[in-house]
Amino acid sequence: MSASPVTNAEAAGGNGMPRHVAIIMDGNGRWAKRRFLPRVAGHRAGAEAVRVTVKAAADMGLRALTLYAFSSENWRRSAEEVTDLMGLLRHYLRKEVAELHRNGIRLRTIGDISALEGDLIGLVRDGVELTKNNRRLDFVLALNYGAQDEMLRAVRGIATEVQAGKLDPQSIDQAMIEARLDTCDLPPLDLLIRTSGERRLSNFLLWQAAYAELLFVDTLWPDFDGKALSAAIADFGTRERRFGGR
Ligand code: IPE
Ligand code: IPE
Ligand code: MG
Repeated sequence: MSASPVTNAEAAGGNGMPRHVAIIMDGNGRWAKRRFLPRVAGHRAGAEAVRVTVKAAADMGLRALTLYAFSSENWRRSAEEVTDLMGLLRHYLRKEVAELHRNGIRLRTIGDISALEGDLIGLVRDGVELTKNNRRLDFVLALNYGAQDEMLRAVRGIATEVQAGKLDPQSIDQAMIEARLDTCDLPPLDLLIRTSGERRLSNFLLWQAAYAELLFVDTLWPDFDGKALSAAIADFGTRERRFGGR
């Protein structure tokens, strides 16, 4: 870390590129509503935006892109919408995993996928396995993800070790918590984007966002693309990060 603040464009070792970008893909429903279409049409268009954005992220040289696809609270939606979202995820995985692999992209997930339907868990696992040696971009799908649930699972794991006498509570530190988060082997989060004009985190990456740059854009997710990602990265390049220093 440098002594005086620098913008991300000038950051040492960097080309101004964030290593890890995460996006709260919001606004599918409103995109559909504006077109007098059912919500599922918005989600379908959103899946296409995922496809082009992931490709763009790999072409730009990002190391990791995390997309919030389904939150641990999204089960509160109607059964019909949950089924539509799961169906689209199934369709996306069946159709796109081979293409991800061709493009040198490694698929990963965060969140508790054990709550998904069995065949979906299988598709996710197969995709992760097929692409595990790829190095161009880590494409991380947040599925049944909630930051509070992630932290709860980490705390439970630590408490279990303490109870077993394997861990002294005094030795628990930040690194130990980070090592138990779903994101443990991803680069630190540099830029967190939310589309659709909403300005909240909705239980996404709360720990990881501690020093991330936040960007809220009005674009509805289905309208997001490589150009929008470039614009977000250009904005990031102008930010001055201090990490609590001067
Ligand atoms: C984001 O779009 C997609 C998911 C949450 C899965 P929304 O469905 O939340 O769209 P809006 O917020 O209703 O427009
Ligand atoms: C956050 O969007 C979750 C995803 C994008 C997957 P929501 O649309 O579910 O968030 P709220 O309900 O507006 O906070
Ligand atoms: Mg929404």
